[in-house]
Amino acid sequence: MQFRTRAIHVGNERCPQTGAVVPPIHLASTYVQPGAGDWGEFDYSRSGNPTRKALETTLADLEGGCGALAFASGMAATHCVIGSLKSGDHVVAGSDIYGGTYRLLHKVTNRAGICVTLADSTDLEKFAAAFTPATKLAWIESPGNPRMTITDIAACAEVAHARGALLGVDSTFASPALTRPLELGADIVMHSATKYIGGHSDLLGGALVVRDQQLRDELYFVQNATGAVMGPLEAFLCSRGLKTLELRVREQCRTAQQLAEWLAAHPQVERVLYPGLPTHPGHAIAAKQMEGGFGAMMSFVVRGDYSQAKRFVESTELFQLAVSLGAVESLIEQPASMSHASYDAADRAKHGIVDGLVRISVGLEAMEDLRDDLAAAFDAIG
Ligand SMILES: Cc1ncc(COP(=O)(O)O)c(C=O)c1O
Repeated sequence: MQFRTRAIHVGNERCPQTGAVVPPIHLASTYVQPGAGDWGEFDYSRSGNPTRKALETTLADLEGGCGALAFASGMAATHCVIGSLKSGDHVVAGSDIYGGTYRLLHKVTNRAGICVTLADSTDLEKFAAAFTPATKLAWIESPGNPRMTITDIAACAEVAHARGALLGVDSTFASPALTRPLELGADIVMHSATKYIGGHSDLLGGALVVRDQQLRDELYFVQNATGAVMGPLEAFLCSRGLKTLELRVREQCRTAQQLAEWLAAHPQVERVLYPGLPTHPGHAIAAKQMEGGFGAMMSFVVRGDYSQAKRFVESTELFQLAVSLGAVESLIEQPASMSHASYDAADRAKHGIVDGLVRISVGLEAMEDLRDDLAAAFDAIG
């Protein structure tokens, strides 16, 4: 069956008692046991919950994994992976990663003796050179946040595996509708389900999907031991979001492509970072590993200084000034002062997160309205 059919049917079996087409939301925290020490399928909702399980079943299927785990947030999912490492282990992380992941690696998990090196994952030589004998995990994003760099996932998997490390991919920007990293050789795919999977800016959630049962069991052990699981209401909303994921993302990509082309020709724009533009250095790889579109996230550099970009993001109406992404509403932000403020200033400069950079998440509004909104903001800053 095709992706969109599976997104609607796998994991969403009708209720056997009532015939309800939409499975009920199971809010119970605990479950009656058949006997003492006889656990049955569910015993306590941190360890397993039917509504969460339904979502995990759909996600595992859509990503081509053997299992999925749903978390309270994207960061909780990433933390579970890092939390499965031990003191002395080393992580190689791509240099175009979400600010919160940077913070987790540099300011939290480093306290437990897990060290990290940032490396440009678009440059395989530099990426490979960052590995040490202690490297257990490589962590990349494609498209990267906020510079929309494209990393060759299959090539990075080879580099990591040749050095005895796992490859984890934060695939939040692509969503399973566009890229399926496990099919390209990755071991773990992570999503901030807050974004495209939920799709409506009304929940926080995260997910991991893996190919290997043993890895799934190890991660499940950490998840259950630490407890940052997704709640049943959020799981229900994610399951509902997945049913329209492909349609939403395809349409959002179409609008994003048109806006990127318009922005690229705009005199007040220095450059546009969007993998759908042939001028983007990662365009060819993106065309190979993204299916049906180049994503609905893009960044561009507004001519002028920090305050010009700040005034620009404060001047749009339809594009709402907010972090987050992937929803039906279009959002705009300035990475240097918002999503990537948790980077040290020196690392921001080193990794090209310039002050004039503006990031947009293209929603489902009409392209013409979004374009007019950006045009009015350019007029406003002169
Ligand atoms: C690429 C990426 N990864 C991870 C996260 C963290 O997800 P959450 O906010 O659900 O914890 C975000 C949030 O913005 C993100 O953009």
